[in-house]
Amino acid sequence: MGKVFTTRSADETVALGRKLGQVLKEGEVVALDGDLGAGKTCITRGIAEGMGLISDDVCSPTFTIVNEYTDPADKMPLFHFDTYRLSGTDDFIAAGLDEYFYRGGVCVIEWSSVIDDILPEGTVRINITGCGQERNIDIDDPEGRIC
Ligand SMILES: Nc1ncnc2c1ncn2[C@@H]1O[C@H](COP(=O)(O)OP(=O)(O)O)[C@@H](O)[C@H]1O
Ligand SMILES: [Mg+2]
Repeated sequence: MGKVFTTRSADETVALGRKLGQVLKEGEVVALDGDLGAGKTCITRGIAEGMGLISDDVCSPTFTIVNEYTDPADKMPLFHFDTYRLSGTDDFIAAGLDEYFYRGGVCVIEWSSVIDDILPEGTVRINITGCGQERNIDIDDPEGRIC
């Protein structure tokens, strides 16, 4: 369990993601869990903004599994995963997706529990719960940066 933040709108969740995006470093992994509609994509949009990337088109890569955000080109890239349709870690590795961990960007993974056993040490874990407009966003950052 990390630090729990409560947001009351999608914009507040984006703003929280933005803070995190500003401090993330090359090679880091952010693991996102929470039900459908919890706000995983929403917080990812904020992370993209915080990293200085164009975030308008951030949406769940449910069918493509991974989307790469590299614009503007001089910024650290964001690799945004949605592992919902994978059966598990074997699927992830068979597709060579673990190589993204070493590509010099930040990996944000929706439904990360699907590949929990291969998440690298130091992974920032985020769990989102709530209903209505309210979300409790539990951020467990081993480096304790977000407060
Ligand atoms: N506090 C909040 N934080 C994030 N999203 C919220 C919040 N309140 C309502 N919402 C709505 O919940 C939905 C979250 O969708 P999304 O981020 O795509 O979820 P997920 O990727 O977890 O399936 C959006 O329609 C958003 O407008
Ligand atoms: Mg999503």
